[in-house]
Amino acid sequence: MATRKLLLLPGDGIGPEAMAEVKKLIEMMNADFNAGFETEEGLVGGCAYDAHGQSISDADMDKAMAADAVLFGAVGGPKWDGVPYEVRPEAGLLRLRKEMELFANLRPAICYPALAASSSLKPEVVEGLDILILRELTGGVYFGEPKEITDLGNGQKRGIDTQVYDTYEIERIAGVAFELARTRSNKVCSMEKHNVMKSGVLWKEVVANTHKAKYSDVELTHMLADAGGMQLVRWPKQFDVIVTDNLFGDMLSDVAAMLTGSLGMLPSASLGAPDEKTGSRKALYEPVHGSAPDIAGKGIANPIAMIASFAMCLRYSFNMVEEADRLEKAIASVLDDGLRTKDLMSKGMTEVGTAAMGDAIIAKYKALA
Ligand code: NAD
Ligand code: IPM
Ligand code: MN
Repeated sequence: MATRKLLLLPGDGIGPEAMAEVKKLIEMMNADFNAGFETEEGLVGGCAYDAHGQSISDADMDKAMAADAVLFGAVGGPKWDGVPYEVRPEAGLLRLRKEMELFANLRPAICYPALAASSSLKPEVVEGLDILILRELTGGVYFGEPKEITDLGNGQKRGIDTQVYDTYEIERIAGVAFELARTRSNKVCSMEKHNVMKSGVLWKEVVANTHKAKYSDVELTHMLADAGGMQLVRWPKQFDVIVTDNLFGDMLSDVAAMLTGSLGMLPSASLGAPDEKTGSRKALYEPVHGSAPDIAGKGIANPIAMIASFAMCLRYSFNMVEEADRLEKAIASVLDDGLRTKDLMSKGMTEVGTAAMGDAIIAKYKALA
């Protein structure tokens, strides 16, 4: 039996509630399907700060580096509003992304058939939606230097963040976008703001050059990111793969989440480059949503983004394609049966809590085997 090493980092707020459902799923897959998952747990975010004053410890970083894949819940919350910037909960997630070199963040926005009516947009706008936002995750304004607040000495301060992209960073994310497009509808739309930003000028140029050099079979378009946001809401089905920078990708993926019915639906995979010898890659799987302090502890969070992130883990880290497909089918089928967490509730549907939603998906998975 293969051993598959997973590090679980549930984090804060609804993170542990959603992760509990994935833990049940892993236990079932080990017991009933001999899946061979070995799990370890660590602390990240506010809970790590409370335990040892860091948002992730070096020991847990080492575990993340050694694991076949990391499953991440969510971090943050008002409890840690006052902690120093360097050790705020979100810093733990950023450290994981940077040190594991997880430059490619895949954020698929799929509108499950049963949820077309749950979106805030008209059903015909979102029905059948299946797009992929590919967000650059280790560069741009998130990590550029200088990043500081300086005192100007005249009663004024200056807050500085720096947007930086080098050619290789744009080339490698563009390459991932084109490769992914070839497995889908063969279309890439690159979004930047070359009308305002120098990094946008370079972004557009490098994406175009990469396309010309190696991927001219894929259809490529360019769009200004603000217009892209508008088009995502106007007619999202025009897109297949959207490739964009770290900050635009963060914002556009939250917009895309609402096309699918709820932020609680959007999974993501954060991937590094494949190892030249083994082909394996570092990977962390995280829902797009945060720790949702407003609903934490109530047992009502939607666990689907977390469960679907685990499906991406099965597909991308373990090549368990059949199992990943089955898990996604189980999610669709439970929604077809009318089960809804509160965030997705509409008239005539059955409201369930986090654990009941998880249990129903697990039962469906077994039934589909
Ligand atoms: P959020 O994503 O936590 O919540 C936004 C809204 O969506 C809330 O009303 C919340 O109840 C709802 N929501 C989110 N996930 C849900 C789910 N699974 N089921 C049902 N409803 C859900 O964003 P926020 O409120 O802006 O941020 C809260 C904290 O989370 C902040 O500290 C922020 O930095 C952090 N955050 C963390 C991550 C992460 O860990 N990956 C991502 C985003 C935000
Ligand atoms: C996300 C989150 C993170 C980001 C935060 C928590 C650092 O919003 O993953 O979308 O901004 O990347
Ligand atoms: Mn975000």
